[in-house]
Amino acid sequence: TGNVTLDPGFVNTASCESTITFIDGNEGILRYRGYPIEQLAEQATFLEVSFLLIYGHLPSQDELSTFEGKVSNRMMLDERMRELYRCFPRGAHPMQVLASGVMALGSFNRDTLDVHDPDQVEAASLRLIGSMPTLAAYAYKSSVGEPFLYPQKHLSYVENYLRLSFGTPQEEYEIDPAVVKAFETLFILHADHEQNCSTATVRMVGSADASIYASMSAGVNALSGPLHGGANQAVLEMLVKLREEGVDMKTYVSQVKDKKSGVKLMGFGHRVYKNYDPRAKIIKGHADELLRASGKSNALLDMALELEETALNDEYFIERKLYPNVDFYTGLIYEAMGFPAKYFTALFALGRLPGWIAQWREEHADPSRKISRPRQVYVGETERNYVPIAER
Ligand code: CMC
Repeated sequence: TGNVTLDPGFVNTASCESTITFIDGNEGILRYRGYPIEQLAEQATFLEVSFLLIYGHLPSQDELSTFEGKVSNRMMLDERMRELYRCFPRGAHPMQVLASGVMALGSFNRDTLDVHDPDQVEAASLRLIGSMPTLAAYAYKSSVGEPFLYPQKHLSYVENYLRLSFGTPQEEYEIDPAVVKAFETLFILHADHEQNCSTATVRMVGSADASIYASMSAGVNALSGPLHGGANQAVLEMLVKLREEGVDMKTYVSQVKDKKSGVKLMGFGHRVYKNYDPRAKIIKGHADELLRASGKSNALLDMALELEETALNDEYFIERKLYPNVDFYTGLIYEAMGFPAKYFTALFALGRLPGWIAQWREEHADPSRKISRPRQVYVGETERNYVPIAER
């Protein structure tokens, strides 16, 4: 096989050069295009950050307004797409529905499929960002069997998304500015994270010159796994199960430490962070603020806080440098907002989309780009002769 290095899980292999996101896992630092995540999370809007990730600089007021207008114009789906949602069974996992919706969006926008035409790539990027809240909200609405609403021009991106998810045709949806702010922050915190599993998938699929929609849909599918974005659903389900079964946190942590149990502490650990995930730090503050203010779900939050403290003081977690990651506290906020656990990962996808798009575009703009095609180390049988079936 020649000079091939075996690196399962790409622990030591960089697949690309990138100017988008910087992570220092030992220090717990995250920056988009050089800007610290803490500053962006507090001060920017999600569309402002999307612009920053995709175009490389913070937008001027004019640039931002133009971008917002273009995105807003693309929030409404082709009416035929409603049929797609109708054919999914009640209770289908929203990530499956979302991945299908993203793929279908390409079929409905066939004049944006040419990956070598910059105008089409730009049109597809805007189409995806504009349509994603509607796709995600409809995935939710169809799973609970409620009617779909249309987006409204006078509402912001996040406002539209919340109304599409929770509004009904019967009454005006009341927008709570604290909830809007929390979602702006959550989406910003999810917006990019360098070469994580779904982003690496997006680049992998993109490297074959597959359409941007095919690449993004592959990203949604990779994200659905419980070791990746699906962890936010898994964390809440873990907490609920612990509450139902009355398991105390110390007992649970000892179960996790016993490798034979096959149980992991969901929402803990990270390939790159060997320190507190800076995103988890920000979300923890918001979860505390929002949940205490609403008076909802305090029991689960208290359990999460206790679980975190128990783990962080335990030798197993200290030795391995395992800290809470972005998924540990998000589910508590989503749950308090009324989303079912099954829907949490779709929210992650909505936040991660601009990162995927920025990474896909960076890959395509690189003149030295090659199709992604890892090598392998063959460890199977050496040559042997075929045996006719009657003689086996
Ligand atoms: N609970 C218990 N033990 C753990 C955990 C955990 N959550 N995470 C890592 N370990 C142990 C692991 O068993 C290993 O122990 P040992 O050295 O004795 O074999 C050691 O810590 C190193 O872990 P690893 O599995 O080699 O680390 P990795 O970089 O391959 O995996 C991970 C990273 C995120 C997949 C893993 O930590 C994990 O499965 N965490 C739980 C799922 C989760 O929360 N995922 C969300 C990740 S962050 C956001 C996102 O990507 O969506």
